[in-house]
Amino acid sequence: MDKEKIIEILNKVRVEELTAIMQYLQHHYRAKGINSPGVSEIFKKISITEMKHAYIVAERITALGGMPTTKIDKINVPEKLEDMIKENYEVEKVAIEDFKKCIKEVSEDITTRRMLEDILADEEEHLDELGKLLED
Ligand SMILES: [Fe+2]
Ligand SMILES: [Fe+2]
Repeated sequence: MDKEKIIEILNKVRVEELTAIMQYLQHHYRAKGINSPGVSEIFKKISITEMKHAYIVAERITALGGMPTTKIDKINVPEKLEDMIKENYEVEKVAIEDFKKCIKEVSEDITTRRMLEDILADEEEHLDELGKLLED
């Protein structure tokens, strides 16, 4: 696979990461209710991990000679805390599927593949952490 195609894939990943940063942060600021202090801290913590992802993806794009995107998608900010958790749970689920696809696509570029595999492991942790919050 040529560099241009890898850069394009990585920029799509970066859009997802930048969007996740903004959504988690907004949920952190807007969380209300009896359970909000703990959950709000979790949103903040995950947001910071998403920043690390956006950063290392941009470093790889630059190393390949590309330009890291600053584009973000629409974020969803529901009123209720539980809906915020559900919203993020869905985002992580989609991200995991997208990462699995990207890993297959870039498999010949070992450095990029390894980076995406490490990020995937973090996204699986996020899904797990949010899933536990949704349990009774
Ligand atoms: Fe991420
Ligand atoms: Fe995540």
